[in-house]
Amino acid sequence: MPREPVVDASAMFEPMSLRGLTLPNRFVMPAMQRSWCSDGGPTDFLTDYYCRRVEGGVGLIITEACAVDHPSATQSAKYGWISPRTAAAWRRCLGRVRDAGGHVFVQLWHEGAVRVGGESPTAAPSLSPSGIVGGGRTNGRAATEPELREIAAAFARSAAIARESGASGVELHACHGYLLDQFLWAETNRRQDDYGGTTVLRRATFVVALIEGVRRAVGDDFPISLRLSQWKEVDYGARIARDPAELHALLGLFRSAGVDLFHASTRRFWQPEWPELDPDLGLAGWMKRATDAAVIAVGSVGLDIDVMSNVSGSTARSSGVHGYREMVRRFERGDFDLMSIGRGQIGDPNWVNTLRSGRLPAVRAFSKADLLQDRELPTLVQ
Ligand SMILES: Cc1cc2nc3c(=O)[nH]c(=O)nc-3n(C[C@H](O)[C@H](O)[C@H](O)COP(=O)(O)O)c2cc1C
Repeated sequence: MPREPVVDASAMFEPMSLRGLTLPNRFVMPAMQRSWCSDGGPTDFLTDYYCRRVEGGVGLIITEACAVDHPSATQSAKYGWISPRTAAAWRRCLGRVRDAGGHVFVQLWHEGAVRVGGESPTAAPSLSPSGIVGGGRTNGRAATEPELREIAAAFARSAAIARESGASGVELHACHGYLLDQFLWAETNRRQDDYGGTTVLRRATFVVALIEGVRRAVGDDFPISLRLSQWKEVDYGARIARDPAELHALLGLFRSAGVDLFHASTRRFWQPEWPELDPDLGLAGWMKRATDAAVIAVGSVGLDIDVMSNVSGSTARSSGVHGYREMVRRFERGDFDLMSIGRGQIGDPNWVNTLRSGRLPAVRAFSKADLLQDRELPTLVQ
């Protein structure tokens, strides 16, 4: 007798189309920086790790944040770097993931004021809207307008390289307090020129121009995701959009510039964004109401604590069946099109296939040390 499924997530195993790309199901592995690149190119270990998640059923993998082709973009050679120099290594990696049946979006990133000297592979200054990290910290200096045009061109160039290297799309990292988000957030953007302003729509000018450049570089038949968050690593209470009207206007600008998919980065997918307006609607749900583009939700599916508590030392444990059923309820209600599973897929490469079979994924308790491991973690046998 087949067992009754513990969670019936069958609705999330329907395929989905996006600008000519067909994804087999609604599960995504979001960008997670593992520092498994060497001189900006993916190692075989990283490629194997992706392939195991494809074999485990995930429909779309988003690479860890990869620096764009600009000397100020990142601080570590262990992070991915998308440039003519690393293109061949990325082509080998993405080719193997495609051969395994997977789709990959490359996440394109610039650290802005967060970049510190550290292991930086270049001596370039750290550039950002105003040299402000947030949370009372400063670093580097404000970029000049010509430098900003160079950085926008670097995003476009790296997006084209990602496409030529076999990516199925790109995701632009505009969240968590890094460069593009530094433009959007009032605390980190104090510019007096066309790239600053008192409203988020004015502060979005640089990001909009950058998206337009990426769209021109990749052509019309290539998906672009934009990852946004209200929270920043330096301030969990920060806000980009103060209310649904601002969110609507902001997404409208990005959508017209060429975005197909918004990735609503939250720490807990069920948390209401504006509880006074709707105690049952998270950021992804509000985005879905604000745009006709597709939306990805994320945040602690199957886990009892959020990613930042986890990386700052607390141990994450399974949240039990309730969290999975809540995900399915919100998906079936139309709050989002895709769901990202981050730490769950670090802990269990077969997370998606296990859920497909109606069982709970073998999410193990894991700690900060586990997140920093450079090996596969032993999975729990249920
Ligand atoms: C080790 C680690 C590295 C991460 N690196 C990135 C990154 O490079 N880019 C990004 O946008 N988010 C990054 N994140 C955030 C994840 O994409 C995701 O939003 C977060 O882990 C919440 O999902 P989860 O609760 O399912 O883990 C990272 C998370 C972890 C655990």
